[in-house]
Amino acid sequence: MATDMSFPEGFVWGVATASYQIEGAVNEGGRGASIWDTFSHTPGRTINGDTGDVTCRHYHNVDKDVELMRRLGVGAYRFSIAWPRVQPDGKGKANQAGLDFYRRLVAALRDQGITPMATLYHWDLPQVLEDEGGWTVRGTAERYADYVSLVAEALGDEVGMWITLNEPWCSSWLGYAVGAHAPGRRDPAAGLAATHHLLLGHARGTEALRKASRAPVGITLNVSSFIPASSHELDVAAAKLADSGLNGMFLGPIFKGQYPDEVFDLFLKGDARANLVRDGDLDAISKPVDFLGANYYFSSVMADPSRLEQARAAGYFVPADAGRGRGDLPVVTVGRPQLERTAMDWEVDPGAFTEVLVRIHDEYTQIPIYVTENGCAQHDYRDPDGAVHDPGRSKYIHSHLSAVREAIDKGADVKGYFVWTLMDNFEWSYGYSKRFGLVWVDYPTGERVPKDSYTWYKDVISANGLPIA
Ligand code: FCB
Repeated sequence: MATDMSFPEGFVWGVATASYQIEGAVNEGGRGASIWDTFSHTPGRTINGDTGDVTCRHYHNVDKDVELMRRLGVGAYRFSIAWPRVQPDGKGKANQAGLDFYRRLVAALRDQGITPMATLYHWDLPQVLEDEGGWTVRGTAERYADYVSLVAEALGDEVGMWITLNEPWCSSWLGYAVGAHAPGRRDPAAGLAATHHLLLGHARGTEALRKASRAPVGITLNVSSFIPASSHELDVAAAKLADSGLNGMFLGPIFKGQYPDEVFDLFLKGDARANLVRDGDLDAISKPVDFLGANYYFSSVMADPSRLEQARAAGYFVPADAGRGRGDLPVVTVGRPQLERTAMDWEVDPGAFTEVLVRIHDEYTQIPIYVTENGCAQHDYRDPDGAVHDPGRSKYIHSHLSAVREAIDKGADVKGYFVWTLMDNFEWSYGYSKRFGLVWVDYPTGERVPKDSYTWYKDVISANGLPIA
């Protein structure tokens, strides 16, 4: 394949998945219930009432799925470990069957020369811990560290890279402040408590990993760019507040040892804040990690709620639910009609991806970055010829890989890229209505059908570069 853009030697190509989205077998191997079992089984929480009970049946198809990865040619696989498989009750000794499942997976990957990158928490908190307050209570961070110790002792150096948490903004803000994700609470103060306890869990979990494994440790954050709808000070402030809410609340404490004040000032002040963020916490949270995982999907244009008329006049559209903002943050996301949108209705903006990667490098940290997720849902269907032709997905990944390449040229130390996702799966509150995979999954039978984008990505990997568009 002729390429017009090659990647640095040793660049890591991968795919990513998460336990609850692909495993199924929720009642097998001694697994306990997670908050996502409870949430998805609660009427009205997911589209069509879909659950992860069966999903891709990955639990019973490890060999088949590793074979798909071998044929694709990936150097690494990012998967997540389900806490309730390892500790069905959220505490106490390990459930051997749960650990054995991940041991088998890791061994199968190693047999094929694929580096296992394990995420220790991709949102499936044991339900019993949620019953005791979940991430809003400090003790959950200690429970998490105990769980991490069990996994690290069992899998030790077989895992090539550890990720403590996936997108803690989603766990804390979507889960406890907005209510769109499990456990479905709607309380911004609870969202802030969850934010801090997740980060404390990251700190304690990192300490546990350092004791039991020599593999590099990182954390995955969802990062984005927020563009003001105008140069008016209120719109500029709205973009800054949204940026603090997503980027600053996580990059700040991890890399600078401080939270931005704006979000706390809105929802949790004085003693309540001091009681939550205790002496020594930020020192622990800002201890060095070896790499940053960055997930990127889209950017957003932000307006102040009082300036929607001006935003409309400037050519933006204002979605029906605009008033809701990002949770209770007093900001509004307005739409850019000129941009393409994915099946998630997310605006395609690869330029903002370059911008945020470079900004992380310039403002927060120079440690290596792995893009641990990027990809898109498309309106895929199976053609009468049996194949799935998804040119839109290859196009999306192409433009975002170009953006990564550009960020590298501008100084960001990006060492690898993982497509979200290997195969279609349970897309959280969207259930099975959104397909992100390089591989089509026929849910009634579990059959896997590589899409055209799988072949396209395989060529990119083998060329270590992008085809001439
Ligand atoms: C990210 C999640 C991942 C997947 C993608 C589409 O926020 O980490 O599990 O759902 O979005």
